[in-house]
Amino acid sequence: MIKLDLSHTLTDTDLSSYQAEVTRIHHMIHEKTGKGNDFLGWVDWPNTYDQEEFNRVKEAGKRIREQAEVLLVCGIGGSYLGARAAIEAIKGPYDKDSLEIIYVGNTFSSTAITRILKYIEDKEVAINVISKSGSTTETALAFRIFKEFIEKKYGEAESIKRIYVTTDKERGLLRPLVNEKHYESFIIPDSIGGRFSVITPVGLLPMAAAGIDIDEVMRGLKQAQQDLSTDDLNTNSAYQYGVMRRVLEKTGKNVEMFVTYEPHLVYIAEWLKQLYGESEGKEGKGLLPASVNNSTDLHSMGQFVQEGTKCLFETVITVKNPIEDMNFPEASSNIDEMDYLVGKSLHWVNEQAFKGTLQAHVEEGKVPNILIELEDTSAYGFGYLVYYFFKVLALSAYMLDVNPFDQPGVEVYKRNMFKLLGKES
Ligand code: PA5
Repeated sequence: MIKLDLSHTLTDTDLSSYQAEVTRIHHMIHEKTGKGNDFLGWVDWPNTYDQEEFNRVKEAGKRIREQAEVLLVCGIGGSYLGARAAIEAIKGPYDKDSLEIIYVGNTFSSTAITRILKYIEDKEVAINVISKSGSTTETALAFRIFKEFIEKKYGEAESIKRIYVTTDKERGLLRPLVNEKHYESFIIPDSIGGRFSVITPVGLLPMAAAGIDIDEVMRGLKQAQQDLSTDDLNTNSAYQYGVMRRVLEKTGKNVEMFVTYEPHLVYIAEWLKQLYGESEGKEGKGLLPASVNNSTDLHSMGQFVQEGTKCLFETVITVKNPIEDMNFPEASSNIDEMDYLVGKSLHWVNEQAFKGTLQAHVEEGKVPNILIELEDTSAYGFGYLVYYFFKVLALSAYMLDVNPFDQPGVEVYKRNMFKLLGKES
């Protein structure tokens, strides 16, 4: 499902010299002996997830599709990005589904929140609030506003049927509310941190509601688990990519620029930025993850990549089989001078843009490129992809000797903001 090409990385480092370190870390991951090992529940998740809850997720997804025109998915960070990445990647842009998904709870923007309230005024609505703590301010603020909206619109009894809660089993501010109101609820497991939680009800319920076959997601996840269960660097391409990130960092590259060529993969890059950035960026260490969407951004950021500071390498994620394709049409005249493309597929055109850029950035710009080709963006492919990137991240973060599973730095802004907002501690 994933083809890795390291032949454009401008380094002659022999990756096999890292085999002993990879083997050591592989055992740390699988035997759960490394830093933050309480959060390694994702490693065995394809074999350990709760099938009964999974079936409830599927049923709730169906029910949401029957009862709503709009599903509000209310969450932020790890409780948001995975679901959005999955739904956009798998369904593609501008799909004509009868259920529209609107992501809320990820901003304080008065304009965004007010406009959404006005937009949904006359629509049938359901909400899935997703928060492990229940106290994340952006999410709690939006949940109060949209819960009030739903209660006012439908009354107490019907509103209970339209509110779905994904939260901690026992702790947090949402669980007591679930117990009081008897909302349908799903569990965020203790052993899986926010940025890994797309494979739990956090990501699976919004996906199921969006009409995605989540059995296929889990099948892809399991296949990747099996394919990547070896410590052998010759065959485990997730580990090859993980090692190469550290090798390129040693050559002075401090930025990893994720590059996509499909607008519906922008949120895969956003999800990756959190996965890598929040996991590695601590103790003064880590690569800065950034992203561009080409060819759009070749007309803006392309200049910097080609000729700017030599601080970055690119990780280019392409898709072999797109969701849609069409041939470029003939026209009544060639006044636009585009006839040279008549009969060519648009996907082929996109591929030539990628190949031309690769040559420009690597050969002339001297920017190392790691190439990742996805077979497709199916539900199965998405499940495979997330496990692949989890493995890459775990290996390369442990190579930095940081705890990949905590995020102590995100508390600092909250402390200051709460003081300004007058929140009692
Ligand atoms: O990765 C993380 O842990 C964070 O991004 C959290 O998911 C995010 O802050 C949301 O937290 P919560 O689910 O408690 O609302």
